[in-house]
Amino acid sequence: MSSYTIKGARSSQGEPLELHIADGHLVAEMAPGAEVIEADGLLALPGFVDMHTHLREPGFEASETVASGTACAARGGFTAVFAMANTDPVTDSVARAAHIAALGRAAGNAEVFPVGSITIGLAGERLSPIAEMAAAGVRMFSDDGRCVMNSALMREALQLSAVHGVIIAQHSQDHVLAGPEAAADERSVAADLGLTGWPWAAESTIIARDVQLAELTGGHLHACHITTAESVEVVRWAKARGVQVTAEVTPHHLLLDSQHLRALDTTFKVNPPLRGSEDIEALRAALADGTIDVIGTDHAPHDPAAKQGDFAHAKPGMLGLEQALASVLETMVNTGRMGWTDVVRVMSAMPARITGASGQGGALRPGEVANLVLVDPVRRARVDRERSSSASRNNPYHGLELPDPIEMTFYSGHLSYSRRS
Ligand code: DOR
Ligand code: ZN
Repeated sequence: MSSYTIKGARSSQGEPLELHIADGHLVAEMAPGAEVIEADGLLALPGFVDMHTHLREPGFEASETVASGTACAARGGFTAVFAMANTDPVTDSVARAAHIAALGRAAGNAEVFPVGSITIGLAGERLSPIAEMAAAGVRMFSDDGRCVMNSALMREALQLSAVHGVIIAQHSQDHVLAGPEAAADERSVAADLGLTGWPWAAESTIIARDVQLAELTGGHLHACHITTAESVEVVRWAKARGVQVTAEVTPHHLLLDSQHLRALDTTFKVNPPLRGSEDIEALRAALADGTIDVIGTDHAPHDPAAKQGDFAHAKPGMLGLEQALASVLETMVNTGRMGWTDVVRVMSAMPARITGASGQGGALRPGEVANLVLVDPVRRARVDRERSSSASRNNPYHGLELPDPIEMTFYSGHLSYSRRS
C-alpha cells in the first residue's frame, strides 16, 4: 500500500496542513518512501459522502456500473456513496445488498453503501425485510424513483426506522397529483412549453404527511431532493417541532432553473423537475441556514436510448457526482452565502453523521481513515461531458464555464482520482 505526504495544503478553515498517509490512515509522521505531493494553493477536505447515487448495476449496466459510477464519485471528490435501490433486481434483500457492497469493494474507488428498498420490488405494496437488512448493516431504505404513496405502509416503515435506527428516505412526489406524464415545473414553464405540469404541491404535501408520520412513530425521515419553497417551509416547521427529519438538495436544483427546458433538450428532464428562480432562492437560503442538511447528487445516468425521443417520454435523470462541488461553489461559496467549512458540513460531515458512515466525514487528523480530497478553490473550466468516468453522457453542465476544483481524491489511503495522472 502506498504512502503519501501532502505538503502546502490548507484546511477548510485556512490553517496550514501537512498530511501523512500510510496503511490507509492519516499518520503523525512521514512514512519511509512516501510520495510527496505538492499542494500549495489547495485545500484538503474530508472526502464527500453522497446519500443519493444511482449506480445502475445490476440491470442497467449500459447506463452505469458500480465501477464507472464510483469512478465518477472519485472524480467528484466523494469517498462514499449510497447506491439507490432501483436496480434490476431491486435491492430488497440481504443477499442483493451484500452483492452491491461486494461490487463496490471490488471496484475500490469509494465505499459503496447499498440502500435497501422500502417495498418489495418498489411496488409500494409490501415492506421489504427491513429488520433483517438493518441487522445485516443496511442503514438507509428508499423506493427512490417512486414515492411510497400508501400512508399506512409509510407509517410501518418509519416505525421500523425507530426500532432499528435506520433512515427512511422518501422520493416525495404524489404520483396521482403529478400524473405519470408530469414533465416540467407547472408554476414556471410547463404551460409555456406545452409540457405536462408537475405541480409544486405534489412534493410538499407528501413531505407534510411524512414528517407527521415521523413524529407519530419516532422514525427518521430523510426527504430526498427537495425542490420548492413550500417543501423548505414544511421541513423548517417539522424541525422546529423536534421531528427527526433531514433534507437534501441536489447540485442541479441549486444551479439550474426551469428555463433550461426551453430547447426541449431531454438532458434537462429530471424528477422532481428543475424549478423557477423563487424556489431556487429558497433552496439556497435553506442550505445556508441548515434547514437543508446535505447535498445529495441524485446522480442518475441514462444511456442515450433512454434520453431519446420526445420530452414527454424520455427518462428523467441527470449526472451529478462529477460537478457536485462545482455547483455548490458557484451557487453558495462564490456568492458569499457559505464558506468552506459549510461545504464540508453539507457534503461530508453531515451526510456521514446522518448515516453513521464510520471512517467518513471526520477531521483530518492522525488515526483517521485517509478519506480526503484536495481542491483548487479558484480554478475554472468549461465542462466537457466527454471528460467523464460515467458510462452515460446526460450531463446538464456540458458547455458551462464552472469551478473545476477537484485535484486529487484519496479513498482509504489510496489515490482514487488525480488530475495530474
Ligand atoms: O430524475 C430522476 N431520476 N429522479 C429520480 O428520483 C430517479 C432517478 C432515476 O433513477 O433515474
Ligand atoms: Zn428521487
